[in-house]
Amino acid sequence: MNVHDSERVAGTLVSKGYTAVATMQEADLILFNTCSIRDKAAQKVFDRLANFKALQKQGKKFGVLGCVAQQEGEAIFKRAPHVSLVVGSASYARLPELIEQLESGEKKVTGLEAATDEAFETDYTRRDHPFRAFVTIIEGCDKHCAYCVVPFTRGKERSRASASVLTEIRHLVELGYTEVQLLGQNVNSYRDPSPAGLSFAELLVAAGAVPGIERVRYTTSHPRDFTPEIVRVMGENPVLCDHVHLPVQSGSNDVLRRMLRGYTREHYLGIVDGIRACARPLALTTDIIVGFPGETDDDFEQTAELMHRVRFSGAFIFKYSPRPNTEAGTWPDDISEEVKAQRFAILQQRQQEMQAEDNQAQVGTTMKVMVEAFHPKLAQWAGRSSSNRVVNFTPMAALDVLGQPGALRPGGYAQVRITKAGPNSFVGQQVN
Ligand code: 5AD
Ligand code: SF4
Repeated sequence: MNVHDSERVAGTLVSKGYTAVATMQEADLILFNTCSIRDKAAQKVFDRLANFKALQKQGKKFGVLGCVAQQEGEAIFKRAPHVSLVVGSASYARLPELIEQLESGEKKVTGLEAATDEAFETDYTRRDHPFRAFVTIIEGCDKHCAYCVVPFTRGKERSRASASVLTEIRHLVELGYTEVQLLGQNVNSYRDPSPAGLSFAELLVAAGAVPGIERVRYTTSHPRDFTPEIVRVMGENPVLCDHVHLPVQSGSNDVLRRMLRGYTREHYLGIVDGIRACARPLALTTDIIVGFPGETDDDFEQTAELMHRVRFSGAFIFKYSPRPNTEAGTWPDDISEEVKAQRFAILQQRQQEMQAEDNQAQVGTTMKVMVEAFHPKLAQWAGRSSSNRVVNFTPMAALDVLGQPGALRPGGYAQVRITKAGPNSFVGQQVN
């Protein structure tokens, strides 16, 4: 989501005549887009800023954007005096105007409106990726999980009209994109504000029906709003990628209750059963937090047990980090760093082992891969499967002559037979 925000900011500025450059040395203005989901991410911003202090002497100006800007506001000027612009995500549309203020001589400029009811829509997005595009469908979050800063930095949930989403996707096809990834903190609480009134599942189907679109992904989903209708349409529409990212956070009902997640482990496992019963096999990935306040050994064991039972295709595991404004942030952070690190390492290792085993079972199967880049040293192409796994593969020599029909190119697709599997990627051979 942050990557896409940067694309939208860059597009807005480019449309006003600014030019994006490749290196800091060439830049007059350097903008840092920031994340405050965990303390480490937020601290990284200040470390980076300190490293680049010398560039200020060359007349370069610095700005901080994103959630750290929204959260810390003018305090950033104190901690990093060489910063002259602080802009939260609700003020991005005003960025050209704020930069003008800076250029007209103002020393410190801020854009710190509270996150509004409006979605940040812009006609100008400068996309970094030439054939896979992010498309925002919903912003903000109303869930208020006890540990999470997002509702404070991103504001209230607001969905974008389905017609606007579909127009953007049609436009992307004209530009040569074949894969779109629908984005939001909680895509499945999407509520079409227009009279069309599409549900999230209907929006998925409509996005997949745009002529020229080969793949539709989406992230992130919340278990509370994950309806059987979503699984059904995924089963019926192969254009919808066979991947669900469904953060569970914990396998203990007591922890889930204190996290204010609004579901139990039984409810989550019921959704997993529904996903496993889908007409097509779907890869399921998750997020897990270890060391949430009060997490006992038994709570942790229940998370480990749930992980084994589900056998996720991938899991992002995080150590709990207290965040400002949040409910849990006011509780003692009572699980020591040592125990957090232990629990983190245990889950990480078990997850890697399970992934290695499950991926091994895919050897011999054929996957459709979106081709991304050629690695001359390995004489291999790299790409991604529909379930978003990295596949490195050897081309069919006869076909791989540029300009020939069937020749591979970034953004194209290839059928690949899997010959080797690791925990995080596959190796294969292109087949007809
Ligand atoms: N500490 C640790 N992890 C967190 N996440 C969100 N807030 C915190 C926090 N305070 C994790 C959740 C979420 C993912 C994006 O980041 O697992 O799903
Ligand atoms: Fe944060 Fe919970 Fe909202 Fe996800 S659903 S963004 S974890 S508050």
